[in-house]
Amino acid sequence: MNTTALIGAQWGDEGKGKVIDILAEKADYVVRATGGSNAGHTVVSGGKTYKLHLIPSGILYPSTVNIIGNGVVLDPKVVLEEMHTLESQGVSMKNLMIDLRAHIVMPYHKELDELAELAKGKDAIGTTKRGIGPCYADKSDRIGIRLVDLLDRKIFEKKLKTTLELKNKIIVNVYGGKALDYTEILDEYSGYAKQLEHFACDTGVILFDAIKANKRVIFEGAQGTLLDLDSGTYPFVTSSHPISGGFCAGAGIGPTAIKDVLGIAKSYTTRVGAGPFPTELNDEVGEHLLKVGCEYGTTTGRARRCGWLDAVILRLAVRINGLTSLAINKLDTLTGLKKLKIATHYMRDGKKVDHFPADISILEGCTPVYEELDGWTEDITNCKTFDQLPKAAQTYIKAIERLTDCPVSMIGVGPDRKQQIIR
Ligand code: GDP
Ligand code: IMO
Ligand code: MG
Repeated sequence: MNTTALIGAQWGDEGKGKVIDILAEKADYVVRATGGSNAGHTVVSGGKTYKLHLIPSGILYPSTVNIIGNGVVLDPKVVLEEMHTLESQGVSMKNLMIDLRAHIVMPYHKELDELAELAKGKDAIGTTKRGIGPCYADKSDRIGIRLVDLLDRKIFEKKLKTTLELKNKIIVNVYGGKALDYTEILDEYSGYAKQLEHFACDTGVILFDAIKANKRVIFEGAQGTLLDLDSGTYPFVTSSHPISGGFCAGAGIGPTAIKDVLGIAKSYTTRVGAGPFPTELNDEVGEHLLKVGCEYGTTTGRARRCGWLDAVILRLAVRINGLTSLAINKLDTLTGLKKLKIATHYMRDGKKVDHFPADISILEGCTPVYEELDGWTEDITNCKTFDQLPKAAQTYIKAIERLTDCPVSMIGVGPDRKQQIIR
């Protein structure tokens, strides 16, 4: 079997897009299976920067088939805009497929995401306001509209009518918002249906045959382990399962269809949105990581919160994803810092905490305990092998391997697809 799943090992934005693009060169299929347009994956190639939200990061290779699986919540407006932008940059959409079972993000999902966040006030989650939570909630409530429903005018009309009536009651009576117009949505989405029809198919069947034929398949994770609905910092999480198990439900495959699981992490930690973050830095080191690492959200443009690398988080990612190796990106961002720190464990009320706690109020009371390492000043952005890295950088990577008990198979030293050390 020739399949690899790529998973964000932190709070998202670990550089998944870049690594997937690199692996996609030799891949037959790249598959998105979770999340939606809340994701923002950056690929830098040939001096051009591509920002992808829904389209898999293998799209730049014309012979790679790119699949949007059933577990993705699809915003038709965003995906069509993305297609048009890529086409204007000379990228073909010939090999794009979208699963018929994918749920559709509707205007009321986005409206309700916005209104619910506003109503929460200081307790807001800091969502991307892309309608992700409300869309997954409707899916679980069994009132969602799938691509297959959108493509059938009669079914779509009926489902939209019933659901919109309910949603408008909530928008108006609960949140004091303005009701959305049925005909407007019907017309707009019927237009999308025409444009999407051609991409729609049962991708699970195609994948099953591909895996059986030993094709090279890459599963593209969105978000990150700590944003997982079950294992993340609930309620400050997303509404899907961005962990390796999420690929089974979200791509319609069995667990034995995944051979390797590569966890993607930064050499430090970032987080967008609210919620606990034990190693967060509100000092000049945090400022360095924000500025040098250009830590601004790909989807919302928000400044990302920055902090030291946290081995407690990475151990959680190793455990619940079954990681077979790690890719450590943005090692170049640490260049110039005199001393580096990695959290090895936490302390709470005088007791050692080795595992990430389930309760965020307990997590908030945890103080990270750090291992301190030497920094380096040499420019590493042109290093091609592990041996070319300064000794201190090599020691830093080896410390990650020791603290996580997981081998580091890739190291990112710059945003370009060429700036990746493969061990
Ligand atoms: P994703 O959501 O995991 O795909 O990550 P994002 O694209 O949201 O954010 C990662 C950012 O880091 C992007 O701007 C990438 O171009 C950039 N990046 C990825 N790897 C590296 C690296 O090794 N070094 C540097 N300097 N930038 C990187
Ligand atoms: P990629 O794939 C970083 C965060 C939001 C918010 C929380 C819930 O680019 O790594 P949502 O809109 O999903 O309901 O927001 O999850 N979030 C991400 N943070 N990277 C992402 O995706 C994210 N997708 C969602 O900031 O805190
Ligand atoms: Mg991102």
